[in-house]
Formats: sequence, C-alpha cells, structure tokens
Amino acid sequence: MALKITVIGTGYLGATHAAAMAELGFEVLGLDVVPEKIEKLRRGEVPMYEPGLEELLHKHVAGIEGSSGRLRFTMDWAEAGEFGDIHFVCVNTPQRHGEYACDMSYVDSAIASLAPHLKGPALVVGKSTVPVGSADRLAAYLAEHAPAGADVELAWNPEFLREGFAVEDTLHPDRLVVGVRGERAEKLLREVYATPVAEGSPFVVTDFATAELVKTSANSFLATKISFINAMAEVCEAADGDVAKLAEAIGYDDRIGKKFLRAGIGFGGGCLPKDIRAFMARAGELGADQALTFLREIDSINMRQRGRMVELTRQELGGGAFLGKRVAVLGATFKPDSDDVRDSPALNVAGQIHLQGGQVTVYDPKGMDNARSLFPTLGYADSALEAVRGADVVLHLTEWREFRELDAQALGEAAAQRLILDGRNALDPEVWRKAGWRYRGMGRPTA
Ligand code: UGA
Repeated sequence: MALKITVIGTGYLGATHAAAMAELGFEVLGLDVVPEKIEKLRRGEVPMYEPGLEELLHKHVAGIEGSSGRLRFTMDWAEAGEFGDIHFVCVNTPQRHGEYACDMSYVDSAIASLAPHLKGPALVVGKSTVPVGSADRLAAYLAEHAPAGADVELAWNPEFLREGFAVEDTLHPDRLVVGVRGERAEKLLREVYATPVAEGSPFVVTDFATAELVKTSANSFLATKISFINAMAEVCEAADGDVAKLAEAIGYDDRIGKKFLRAGIGFGGGCLPKDIRAFMARAGELGADQALTFLREIDSINMRQRGRMVELTRQELGGGAFLGKRVAVLGATFKPDSDDVRDSPALNVAGQIHLQGGQVTVYDPKGMDNARSLFPTLGYADSALEAVRGADVVLHLTEWREFRELDAQALGEAAAQRLILDGRNALDPEVWRKAGWRYRGMGRPTA
C-alpha cells in the first residue's frame, strides 16, 4: 500500500514539501496551527509568493476541480497522528530574541503535540534547521512519550531548497541527506524519494549529528562565499579595481566556481543570517567555538555592506545630510522571485536613509505588502517609474528581472537627477550611461 505522509508546518518549506509529496504520488495531510493558513491552503491559495507552488497545489488539493485529491489539510493532531506512516516536521526555527541561538520552541511543541497520537509504527522525519544534537534529544523524547514506543523512529532529513526555486529544488534536489539510526528509517526514506533518486539525486546516509551539521555547514559555506567576494569588493573600492571582473576571472577556476560570487549589499532572508549565528552559538555550547570564530567575521562583513551602501549614496549625493534628498529604492525583498522581506538588506538600506531624513520611495514587484507592514513609515510607489519620479538618486537593491528590463531613457526623464547606484551589480552600466545616467556599482569605482 502507498505510504501516507503528514507534513507538519505549512510555511515555505512545509507547503512546498506537502505539494511535492502529493506530486510524487503519495496521500498527504498537511497540518498547521494557524487557522488562516489552513483555510487558504484548502482553497489552493499559497500564503506567500513562490513560483509554481500555486499550480502544484491546484493540481493536488482535495476539493479543487480536476485535482488528484491527494493533498488535504487539517489542524487536528489526532487525525495527523493516525493518518501518517511518515511525519515530516517542517516548522521554522527563527533566531531567539536577543540571542544568537535558534528558537526550538516550534519544533519542540510540534513533537510534543504529535507524540501522544503515535499509537502505531511511524517514522518522524525532521526537516527543520536545528542545532546539532537536537535529533538525539527528540528521539529520546519520542521513545518516552509516543504510545507506540520503540515502533516510532526518528530520522533527520535537512532541506536545501532556495526561496524562488522551492518547487524545483524539492522535486529535483541536488542531493538528499538522511540521518538515520536504523535500516527501517533508511528504507522508508528511500521509498519516499525513489523518484528523484531514480532521476539521479545522490542519496547520502549519515548519523543524526552529521545530517544536522550538513545543513548548517552548507549555509555557512554559502554565506562565506558571499562575504568573501564582498570583502574583495571593499579592497576593489580602495584600490580602484572592479569586483565583478574579479569574480568572473576567479570563477573560471572550477575549484572556486562562479556561483554565489555576486558582490553587493550582501545576504539576508530567513536562513543564512540566523543559521550562521545559531551555528556559532551551538559550537560555543559544545566547546568548539574557536572553530567558528571566522563566522563572526563573515556576519560582520555582511552587515557592513548595508552601511557601505548608505555611505556610497551619501557620497554620490555630494557628501552631506540626506535631509530633503529624494531617494528611489528599487527592490524590497531579500532576493528576487520572492515576497520575503525578512532581514532584507534592501529594506535595511532604505530604512537607514529614511531614518536619516531622506525621502525614500520604495517599489518592489512582489514584496510591497510585506514591506509596508514591516516598515510602514517608508514611502511606497506602484511602479518603478513612479518611485523614480523626482528622485535625486535611484538605488537598485534587489535584482528583479523587471529592473534589468527598465527603460533607462523614460526613467531618466522622470528622475530629477540621472544617478543610479547598483547595490547588486546586476544592471548593465552601458545601457544606463547611454541614456545619460551616472552609474555606480559596489566594489566597481571605475566600471
Ligand atoms: C538559502 C540556501 O541557498 C538554501 O540552500 C537553503 O535551503 C536555505 O537558505 C534555507 O536554509 O532554507 P535562500 O535563503 O532562499 O536559500 O536564499 P539564497 O539564494 O541562498 O540567497 C541568500 C541571500 O544571499 C540573498 O539575500 C541574496 O541576495 C544573497 N546573495 C546570493 C548575494 O548577495 N550574492 C550572491 O552571489 C548570492
């Protein structure tokens, strides 16, 4: 009989995972504790902007015309406990308020709510990003609290999906990592992922600790790559070099690679910043803090870029105060193809200039609602052209395709001054110069 799967937590990770499991042919029950989320999902609506996810939900959510009906949603823990052969835990682990460590309360409460309803054999699979050692602790908890006792197993299966590519990354992962203690858990997970494995996704089996560490070390490596190139950008600024050329040239060495070497205002979002901090905090608890002190520098290089963008803007506006200056900001989300503004470098820069007296007007293709609710005192416009109207300077802070396709001539006519600063080094300087703009990239003083 086909496996039945529950997915606990229906945010970016869980909603995508649930839809992907239905796409792979399983019967799926998604659970969340937030009623509005469940109501939306039952109608096939996605609580966030994620390309392809709404289509996938429509294809599978029960009750939607023409759907496979394999995907349902509930708020009832007893129903979930009874339904699933496998329970994926996909709740988030944000940074703890006022600390570096991550907040495990959602994971802990999900496990605590599920455990009493596990009355028969089941596999609980953690996907959330957690401090190393958590799986060990949660396995002990389940053994003690699940009525089925030793028939309930735990596995850790970290997720590597990127926002904006969540569906693609979940259906065609570049690797699957499973931390297991027994053959049964491995066998069940091989069954779940049989399709992507048959298509060539490597399946890496580890112990609990290694699986947890793979996730945090992967994100730490990515953060390190970005901060490395941003450090080079700072040196390029001082030495009149061009960091974009430098990145291209070192990237031809395939040991280095081209990806994740785009200098600019740095990384943000709900993952990289909090994951490197939680990793440092956990290493400290384990007495291995020295091994990760470099991440402190990675974090500080990253946070510094936001301030550098503000200073570059000030300098290009003549060096004085922002008071009375009109600043157009293109982009509010932490990256393109997402509506996520969590720890967004773009909004941070916009906010700093606004707080220093600049008249900031922001436009973003998908992030307007989230930006408005996070930063209600900023000005907002309905289009790039409206944001730029009357501006003394235009800041390009999130590299949406829409911004690369802007009509530089038309924008020039709307702006008070043709000055554009590229915080993502993603625009073509030639296009803007031809239309009479002064173009300035980060780490590219002469480009
Ligand atoms: C990141 C990882 O890439 C995923 O593999 C991981 O699963 C996910 O975190 C997670 O832990 O859940 P994501 O947060 O969606 O994914 O975003 P990224 O694509 O990694 O971008 C992060 C930030 O780095 C963005 O603000 C982006 O603008 C910035 N970035 C990226 C750069 O500044 N330069 C680059 O060259 C690349």
